[in-house]
Amino acid sequence: MSGLFITVEGPDGAGKSTLVAALNQRLSEAITVPLVTTREPGGSDIAEKIRAVIIDPKNKKMDDRTEALLFAASRRQHIIETIQPALERGEVILCDRFVDSSIAYQGAGRKLGVDKVATLNQFATENLTPDLTLYLDVEAQVGLNRIGHKNSKRKKDRLEMEKVSFHNRVRDAYKTLLKDNPERIQYIDAAQASESVLADAWEIVQTKLQKHQLLK
Ligand code: TYD
Repeated sequence: MSGLFITVEGPDGAGKSTLVAALNQRLSEAITVPLVTTREPGGSDIAEKIRAVIIDPKNKKMDDRTEALLFAASRRQHIIETIQPALERGEVILCDRFVDSSIAYQGAGRKLGVDKVATLNQFATENLTPDLTLYLDVEAQVGLNRIGHKNSKRKKDRLEMEKVSFHNRVRDAYKTLLKDNPERIQYIDAAQASESVLADAWEIVQTKLQKHQLLK
């Protein structure tokens, strides 16, 4: 028996965390198997330790390739400790970010090259690919403004502090991924109100759950 692996992706400030929390609630009530909600970077003890190093604003000296390797290392550990065991138990996994984030942020944002970063991640994941990816699309500047306004006391992490040109490259890379993976990646307009984002997402997720006979 193999479970269902769902990821949520998008630029900073797209509203992923809000959507993941709402989906977590709905899914846990709607499905016939246990739900594991998790995030990257992080999602296991070791992976969360790697996360702290990656996003620490004090780590200004971090090399771009080091960053890509750390994201991949964190992902590997997360798969081994959390994702793979849950899939083997036939559960549903809802994960905030996965390989597409590395392709967009390290491949395009940091200009390491999307193919190189994809290859690095093939090594880390042994080609584990989500069954469904919800892509929350929002203009880079709109997303950054949201982060700024939502909670002015919240300190920005190392990647959020990047210039708007970096975040524009991230969004463009996501759009290319969407075009290249029309079956797996589903577009959601994240400029909408959060209730509409949830409604759109839930319709897509429900269809997938139905196909896999996982709905109550
Ligand atoms: P995240 O915790 O998802 O931040 P937020 O909820 O604010 O979107 O991710 C932290 C940062 O790490 C975010 O700026 C995106 C970045 N990131 C990468 O650059 N590469 C990756 O592979 C992942 C998973 C995240």
